[in-house]
Amino acid sequence: MAQASVTRRYRFCAAHRLHTDHLSPEDNLAVFGKCNNPNGHGHNYVVLVTVKSGVQTSNGGEMDLDRLDRTVAAQVVSRFDHHDLNQDPAFAECTTTGENLVLLIWDLLVKCLPSRQLKKVGLIETRDNYFEYAGGH
Ligand code: NI
Repeated sequence: MAQASVTRRYRFCAAHRLHTDHLSPEDNLAVFGKCNNPNGHGHNYVVLVTVKSGVQTSNGGEMDLDRLDRTVAAQVVSRFDHHDLNQDPAFAECTTTGENLVLLIWDLLVKCLPSRQLKKVGLIETRDNYFEYAGGH
């Protein structure tokens, strides 16, 4: 049976600095360029969350987008909005790249949504940088 999907857009503003303690200051600068600026910088992140539409919940109702909105607000927006991503415990051991952030957002959402409902998470970081993850490896 054909299965459509629906994508909702969310936003948060956050600061970060691309830096890893595994590299020297010179190599950090070479790898990350101006994103290694010691004072950090900010982004107006846009998160695009795609879910299967019309998913039946265990009590026979349909998964509603209000629940998705509440889940994203609780798990993602409230956690990151107006925060420094480098201070987030999830980034204690990895760099706050768009790739790592989109994977983290997927992990935060997938455990709170009905099984197999989450199809894709997209993350717009800048005008020219978009990251996405659709599960699997
Ligand atoms: Ni950046």
